[in-house]
This record gives sequence, C-alpha cells and structure tokens, in this order.
Amino acid sequence: MLVTGSTEPVTSFYCFIVNELEKALLELERKKKPVVPIRQLQSGKEAYVWLVEANKTNELFALKVYRDLEMRSFRTQRHYLEDRYVGAQDKIRRAIKTGNKIGRAFIQHTWVMREHYFLKKLASQTEYLPKLIVPLENGALLEYFGTQEQAAPRLSDVSLPKSLHQQLIELLLLQIELYLANGIVHGDFSAFNILWWEGRPIVIDFPQAIDVRESKRVPTLLKRDIRNMFSYFRIRDESMVEQIANELLESYSLPTMEYTLL
Ligand SMILES: Nc1ncnc2c1ncn2[C@@H]1O[C@H](COP(=O)(O)OP(=O)(O)OP(=O)(O)O)[C@@H](O)[C@H]1O
Ligand SMILES: [Mg+2]
Repeated sequence: MLVTGSTEPVTSFYCFIVNELEKALLELERKKKPVVPIRQLQSGKEAYVWLVEANKTNELFALKVYRDLEMRSFRTQRHYLEDRYVGAQDKIRRAIKTGNKIGRAFIQHTWVMREHYFLKKLASQTEYLPKLIVPLENGALLEYFGTQEQAAPRLSDVSLPKSLHQQLIELLLLQIELYLANGIVHGDFSAFNILWWEGRPIVIDFPQAIDVRESKRVPTLLKRDIRNMFSYFRIRDESMVEQIANELLESYSLPTMEYTLL
C-alpha cells in the first residue's frame, strides 16, 4: 500500500495512523471546525496526538486520536467486566469476555465517550484541564498547551524547584478531591499525565477514569492516584496515602455496590 506522495511501501500500522488521522480531519470538516495537521506530538500508549491549526483563525489545538484496540493492550478488559454498566448487559459481557469484534467495539466506543464525558463534566469547575473543543468518534479536538515549536512538557520531564512542591501537591490533591466530589476517579493520575505549562499543571488523559457509581475499584484507584502523584515529589509514605484517601472517601460517601464479579 502507498501513502500519497510517497513511492515507498508502508506498513499497515502506518496506514492505520494515517487513516485515523484522515477520518478525524474529515469529521472536523463536517463539524465546521476544519484544521490542518502541523506535526505529531509525543504519542502515548493509547492514542496519537497531533498539533493542528484551525484553517481560519490559526489557533492551535491538540487532536487526539485513539489507537485501534487491536494495537492497544487489552489490559482493561477484566476491569470492564467488573464495572457495573457492563455487568447489566449479558450479551456485551459475553462479547468482552471472548474478546470478539462486538466486545472490542464496545470497549473502544466507551473508552472514547468516557474521556468526553469526564472532561465536559469537570470543565466548568477547574481550569487545570484541557477544554474539550470538539468530541470525535474516535478521539477529541482539545485545547493545546505549548507553542508552535514545542508542546508543553509533562511534569515527569520537568524538575521543579523544591520551593514549589508543597503548593503544587496541595493543588493536585485539590484536583483529586474535586474529581471525587463529582463522582470521578482519574485512575491514571501521575506526572506522565500532567502537563506543566506557564507555571501551572494541566491534567490530561481521562478515558480510563471511573465513575464511582460503576466500579468497586474506587478505593484502590484513588490510593494509586495519590501514591503516583506523591512519587513525583519523592514522597513515599504509604500511611499518608492511606490517611488522605480514607479521609476523602469518608467525605464523599460512595454508593453501595450491589453486583457480583465474574
Ligand atoms: N492538550 C494537549 N496539549 C499538549 N500536549 C498534549 C495534549 N494532550 C496530550 N498531549 C501530549 O500527548 C501525549 C499523549 O497524550 P495522552 O496522555 O492523552 O495519551 P495516551 O496515549 O492516552 O497516554 P498514555 O500513554 O498515558 O496512555 C501526552 O503525554 C502529551 O505529551
Ligand atoms: Mg497519557
């Protein structure tokens, strides 16, 4: 298979990326928000992210497009089965268990929708998130942090002076608390999913976030989020993690879970 303008054969993997980007660009055109890609940014395990520019205004955005499930790890499969909203649907449950096409499509779809849902829900309550500009079938057009030349670094790539640590820890704990007050646990909160831009943190990457009504993993994930955040600041104090998590869990009482695991 050939990509336009190239005489070299390319792998199906590369074709997939180009196809998914093209699909997203067409969808943005249909949704009256045409953009042109400038370059690919650092890609994560789950998605490709491009720096794009609006045709008319030259405004910059981040275009996030998810990898196909075949190319992503299927690590979340078991957790989907544990989650309540899947538990109610026997057919889907069986499909996910066997890993067939329907099950994979369901996971892919919910994965994308969840990021939209959580970003929208939190948008009016915190400025430490990217704005969801346009939700897409397989991704999202997001507010971009960075310049034309350089995307904002992740916190994991930045060494901050110690004088900033305490203030930043408090701000990040407040974000975790705000999510929980909204019935959300990020589930992958760490210096790898926090950008550092103009002296403030921006938390990204929400598709794995959970709604506290649907999962019994809330205490575990909440503790992991706090622990991972602390580890960036070289704080390894499990009793403090436990104490903070327990206090938060007590303040925001979780609904009773009434379902059985497989
Ligand atoms: N809004 C944004 N502005 C600037 N850069 C961004 C933005 N969103 C994502 N990025 C860049 O793209 C990378 C991948 O984004 P993201 O973490 O959302 O994807 P992912 O594939 O789900 O990641 P992971 O590997 O954590 O699963 C980020 O680490 C960051 O460098
Ligand atoms: Mg990420």
